[in-house]
Amino acid sequence: MYRKIDHIGIAVRDLDAALAAYQARLGIPLAHIEEVPEQKTRVALLPVGESRIELLEATEPESPVGRFLAKRGEGIHHICFQVEDLAAELQVLKSRGVRLIDETPRRGAHGCLVAFVHPSSAHGVLIELSQPAQ
Ligand code: CO
Repeated sequence: MYRKIDHIGIAVRDLDAALAAYQARLGIPLAHIEEVPEQKTRVALLPVGESRIELLEATEPESPVGRFLAKRGEGIHHICFQVEDLAAELQVLKSRGVRLIDETPRRGAHGCLVAFVHPSSAHGVLIELSQPAQ
């Protein structure tokens, strides 16, 4: 089932300003920054113990994070659970009537496979499932 909270995604308007807050002032070290063209985002990962904070900046307003920012402003965007076998997990969730945004795994950042569960199935929270690259 779920191994751990892999990361918490936070939508930010300005990644450099957010890094100044989270890295320099809050004191969380930066692991790396990468662009995820499929999601039209620039992403910074900051480790906190076994988990991470994922700062998400939209590279285009017409993108999932861009639309979130326009509608709800900055803040927590999603919570990601790490799973061992994403395809199998999606089958189980589907059989239980969970509403899935992605019915099959797709490529995420750093070579992992990801899928999203619709917030309507989690009381308003967008949930990402992630299977790390082997
Ligand atoms: Co994420």
